[in-house]
Amino acid sequence: MHPETWLALEHLQRCALEALAVQKRASKASRSWALNRAIGEVVAVQKMVGTIPQTERALVEEIAKSWQSILVSESAEVGSISIYEPVKNPYVAGDPVVGPGFKGREDTIRELKQLWCGTTKPPSVVLYGHRRMGKTSILRNINSHLGSEVRLAYVNLLILGGAERGLSDLFLAIADEIRASLPELPQADMDEFDRHPELAFKQYLDLVQSALGKSRLIIALDEFEKLEEWMNAGRIPGNLLDTFRGYIQKDQNIAFAFAGLHKLEEMTEDYFNPLFASVRPIRVSFLSKDAAFQVLANPALEDYPLDFSREALECIWQLTGGQPYLVQLVGHYLVSRFNRLTFEQGKQLEPVFSLEDVEAVIADPEFYSQGRYYFAGIWGQAGQGAEGQKELLKFIAAFPNGIPMEGIAARFGPNSENTASALRELERHDVLQEKDGQWQFTVELMRRWVKEFR
Ligand SMILES: Nc1ncnc2c1ncn2[C@@H]1O[C@H](COP(=O)(O)OP(=O)(O)OP(=O)(O)O)[C@@H](O)[C@H]1O
Ligand SMILES: [Mg+2]
Repeated sequence: MHPETWLALEHLQRCALEALAVQKRASKASRSWALNRAIGEVVAVQKMVGTIPQTERALVEEIAKSWQSILVSESAEVGSISIYEPVKNPYVAGDPVVGPGFKGREDTIRELKQLWCGTTKPPSVVLYGHRRMGKTSILRNINSHLGSEVRLAYVNLLILGGAERGLSDLFLAIADEIRASLPELPQADMDEFDRHPELAFKQYLDLVQSALGKSRLIIALDEFEKLEEWMNAGRIPGNLLDTFRGYIQKDQNIAFAFAGLHKLEEMTEDYFNPLFASVRPIRVSFLSKDAAFQVLANPALEDYPLDFSREALECIWQLTGGQPYLVQLVGHYLVSRFNRLTFEQGKQLEPVFSLEDVEAVIADPEFYSQGRYYFAGIWGQAGQGAEGQKELLKFIAAFPNGIPMEGIAARFGPNSENTASALRELERHDVLQEKDGQWQFTVELMRRWVKEFR
C-alpha cells in the first residue's frame, strides 16, 4: 500500500476508536465530544482522498462514506453539547446530602430497615463513624426507605447551641420534631417542660405512644457528643444517659438512633452497658468504590456535561479511600477549576477530567485549606484518648507505602504499650489500617496533610 493510503487508514482507525467511545461513554457530553472527534477524522480522510493513488482511492472513499453515514445517524441520537456558561457545581462538600446525590450505603440502609420495620420491637441504634463520614446523610435519607408505618423525628443537637436552658431546651426540641412527624399530637407545654423537663417529656412520650397506634417512632439524635459537652459545662445532669436508658426500655414502639463520632460507640460500652445487647452499634465507614464513582460520575444534576476518565476516577479512589467528604471535595474543585480555565482564561478543554486535572487540584494548597475541617477534625480526635497517636501519625506519614510493625517498634520501642493502644485506637477510628503487613493511612490525602502541615 502507498504511504498516503496508510495515513488515511490511520485516520479511519482513530475514527473507529472514537465511535467506540461514543457507544461506551456514560455522559452525554463526552459521547458528543467523541462523536465530534470521529467526524473530524472522516473529514480529514475526505480532504486527503485526492492524494491517494487511483488503485486504492475508491476503497478508502467508500469506507469513509459509510463511516460518515453511521456518524450522521448517530449524531441525531447523541445530539451536540457545547458548554456556553459555567457548569453548576453539583458536588456538595460540607452539608449532608439529601435525595439523589446520596449514593451507596445500601448495607446500612438495609440493616436499619430490617431493624426498624422487620422486628416486633424496633431496637435503638448507635450510628458512629469518624468526622464527615456520612452519618447525618444516612439519617436524612433513611426516611424514604422506612414506609409509612415508621415515623422518624430527626434532631440535630448542634442547633441547640449551648443548650442555655438545659434539659428543657433539649426535650422541647425533641418534642417539636416528634410532633412534626406526628401532627395529630398536641403541642408540648413549654411551662411544664421548663419546670420538670424529664417528667414532662416522659408524659409526652405517653401521648406519643397512644397516638402511634401500630406505627413506630424513631427518635434520631444527631451529634450526640454535644451532650457530653453540656454535661461537662453543667448544663444538663450527668445522669441523663440513665434517663435515656429508661426511655429505651419503656416503650415498645419507640426507639432512638444516636449518631456521632467513634467516642459514642466507646461511650455506649460504659453508659449503656446493661443495655448494650439491645442498642445496636452500626459503624459508618468509607464508601465502596462503586458508590464513590457514582458520587463523581453521576451527580444529582440533570444533563451534567462533565465526565471522568477511568484513570481520574481510580486516582480519586486512591487518594480518598472512599471518604465521602473528600470525594465530594475533589469533585468540587475539579468543576471550579474547569470553569475558571474555560471561562476566565478562555481555554478549550475537553469536558472529561483526566489524571492531570486531579493532580493539579490536589497540588493546590487551597484544597487542603478548604478541607481543614476534615483534616484538623481527624487530627484533633487523635489528640484525645490513647496517648501518642499524633506522634505515630507524623511518623507513619513519611511512608507513602506504609511501614511494617518492626519499623514502628524500632522507632517507638519494641514493647511500648502506649504505641500498641494508640495503633489500635487509630485503626478503630478508621485513620490507619494494616494492609499486607504494612501500617498505613486509610486516606492518602490525610497522610499528605499530616506530612505537609504537621
Ligand atoms: N452517601 C453519600 N453520598 C454522597 N455524598 C456523601 C454521602 N455521605 C456523605 N457524603 C458527603 O460527605 C459530607 C459529610 O457528610 P455528613 O455531613 O452526612 O457526614 P457526618 O458523618 O454526619 O459528618 P460530621 O461528623 O461532620 O457530623 C457531605 O457534605 C457529603 O458531601
Ligand atoms: Mg453529621
